[in-house]
Amino acid sequence: MKVSVTVNGSQVAAEVEDRTLLVHFLREQADLTATNVGCDTSSCGACTVLMDGQSVKSCTVLAAQADGREVVTVEGLATSSGEMHPVQRAFRAEHGLQCGFCTPGMVMATVSLLAVNASPTEEQVRSALEGNLCRCTGYHNIVRAVLAAARDGATASERRPG
Ligand code: FES
Ligand code: FES
Repeated sequence: MKVSVTVNGSQVAAEVEDRTLLVHFLREQADLTATNVGCDTSSCGACTVLMDGQSVKSCTVLAAQADGREVVTVEGLATSSGEMHPVQRAFRAEHGLQCGFCTPGMVMATVSLLAVNASPTEEQVRSALEGNLCRCTGYHNIVRAVLAAARDGATASERRPG
């Protein structure tokens, strides 16, 4: 079947199998490989992206379900000149990553959280990121990064490709 998705502001159309997952569409058809696959149980959140502004685990969505929708991956957050999104800057400043495998999903989940709750408490941050696992950091610096991004006024609408 043919699927057409707006990814980071650009149209990506491809023939895919009915069972193709959105994460594989993004990595293989859109050639955007920052969105990771970390499990086969829908539990790690490494594959988190925004679809029509809502965070979704892209390993739980069929590419067909994204047909005609708008998807933003972590590659879509920085400006075309390479200026990082405030959430990305906060993760760097607060050392919210080590190996970085979970980071694209963490960043996208954070962007989604701050879009609906611009000033979350630490407890709300921990709750919102429950579906995103990190094997390295112990979460402390990730939570600090999210709170720092919130203090800086980062929101999902703040940055778009281009
Ligand atoms: S790869 Fe999607 S939740 Fe782990
Ligand atoms: S930084 Fe390594 S899994 Fe999170």
